[in-house]
Amino acid sequence: MPFKAALLASFLVLPSGTWAQLARNAVYRTDFNSSFKFSDSQIQAARLDSALTTSLENNINFDRSQLAFGGSREDDFYTLPPLSNETSPLQPGQVLKVQAFTDQTAYSTPPNTALSRIIYTTTNFNGTVIPASAFILWPYTPRQFGSPLHSAHSNRGKSDVAKKAPVVVWAHGTSGFFAPQNPSSHRALWYDDSAPFPLAEAGYAVFAPDFAGLGIGNSWDGSEIPHQYHASPATAHDSLYGLRAALAAFPEKLSRDFVAMGHSQGGGVAWGIAEVLAEEKDEFADLLPGYKGAIAASPTTDVFGTPERSFIVAVVGQGLHSIFSSFDLSQWLTPLGVARVKLARDLELGVGPMIELLLSGEDILRSDWTETWFADAFSKLGNAGHKDFKGPLLVLQGTEDSYVPYSITTKTVEDSWRRHPDHDLEYVVSQGVGHVPDLRATKSIWLRWIDDRLAGKPLEKRGSVRTDLESLLPIEQYLSYDNTFQAWGGLPQYQYQVPLAV
Ligand SMILES: *[C@@H]1O[C@H](CO)[C@@H](O)[C@H](O)[C@H]1NC(C)=O
Ligand SMILES: *[C@@H]1O[C@H](CO)[C@@H](O)[C@H](O)[C@H]1NC(C)=O
Ligand SMILES: *[C@@H]1O[C@H](CO)[C@@H](O)[C@H](O)[C@H]1NC(C)=O
Repeated sequence: MPFKAALLASFLVLPSGTWAQLARNAVYRTDFNSSFKFSDSQIQAARLDSALTTSLENNINFDRSQLAFGGSREDDFYTLPPLSNETSPLQPGQVLKVQAFTDQTAYSTPPNTALSRIIYTTTNFNGTVIPASAFILWPYTPRQFGSPLHSAHSNRGKSDVAKKAPVVVWAHGTSGFFAPQNPSSHRALWYDDSAPFPLAEAGYAVFAPDFAGLGIGNSWDGSEIPHQYHASPATAHDSLYGLRAALAAFPEKLSRDFVAMGHSQGGGVAWGIAEVLAEEKDEFADLLPGYKGAIAASPTTDVFGTPERSFIVAVVGQGLHSIFSSFDLSQWLTPLGVARVKLARDLELGVGPMIELLLSGEDILRSDWTETWFADAFSKLGNAGHKDFKGPLLVLQGTEDSYVPYSITTKTVEDSWRRHPDHDLEYVVSQGVGHVPDLRATKSIWLRWIDDRLAGKPLEKRGSVRTDLESLLPIEQYLSYDNTFQAWGGLPQYQYQVPLAV
């Protein structure tokens, strides 16, 4: 019998109840899970005209609808466990809470991935121990390395199938500045198909810290945990302490071998991880043997060098008081800027609405903002890419990046080559490619790089290497931006899929 006919025949003999198990086509859910409206006093204080008010409300409701289970302010998982005598005195890198199985019905994660979340301890920029959250996106089957190098690997169980998954520490790009903007509450884990999904599908356990202040907004004593935006040593510590905690939480499932990877803010964090591992060998002696290298994609290495300067100044400034206690936002922003940042803080807005609120055409930046010493001091403390680092390091950059200019990354890389000619740093430049899309343009390259490092293969090119990529077809023929996003299908009855996809 031809295959199709056999299939049909077997369908016909199915007991009638079985049909109900097949998913049906249904209307895609298009309403929002949020109905926020500004109050009159908010509109007046931030001087929002009616067009901006309407547009922002729409933007905020869309943004809040992307939060699984209402986001970290509503989801019980993010409630801190009480301090017990066992967890005190606190050290960074301790596990405080483990959710081994996170309900993925509110997420748009890929099928045959599993999700876990943890709460762990890290330190803020100045060394105070604070709590933070993270997710682990699990592969169906761990990456297997065929090379003989790995046949003796402790990953292997009796059946010769790996029982532990090699890890990619994923450092996210800017998701926001306040507690509800943690990637572990975002329905698509904030970077969806650009990195965490393909990494899990390739067989890696994706360990992804929510940088401190995102997810858990208050410490045990109720004090605010500010997200110290672009303080890359602090976020690099979040990543490494988080990894230590994740390894303690899942010792049977996570291999100790890892590659660090990040994009944009997280690209600076990945580079920062390579710097911290060069500088703090004793502090991270437990993790160093497993470290196989880092990938810094479109990394922030000069925080105030972005073309959207007033936005960056405002969002770095809103958390800077936690590092420099004499800093006040009115030293950088106009009264309107201060009022709009206050509104954003009160509402804990995400990065999308905040861009709209702060860049709507009116001046928020004081012309004399550079006259204070804070910007210079913060750049020196916060910027990644200017110190010794533990390689190998792969830096990815598109020439059409409008957030992290190609010229800035090129200068940072070239300076680094000059300072450390003996280090392995490959710079891969994609002609005609923008900021987040660079992760898609170069996916086959970074997936293979991760694979080779974790398989223990020697680098193909050593030392200071530049690789230039050009599009196969004329660049004008390519879609240059994401014109869609990973959407949540809602409750099962709202999922839209063809039955054969099951
Ligand atoms: C929708 O939002 C409400 C209120 O914030 C929240 O309790 C609920 O869990 C959200 N639904 C989903 C599926 O995330
Ligand atoms: C915690 O430790 C303190 C000081 O060592 C002790 O007095 C107290 O009884 C302990 N509490 C618990 C619940 O074990
Ligand atoms: C934090 O550390 C920086 C750099 O060492 C220092 O300038 C600053 O005063 C410290 N801030 C606090 C609040 O301790």
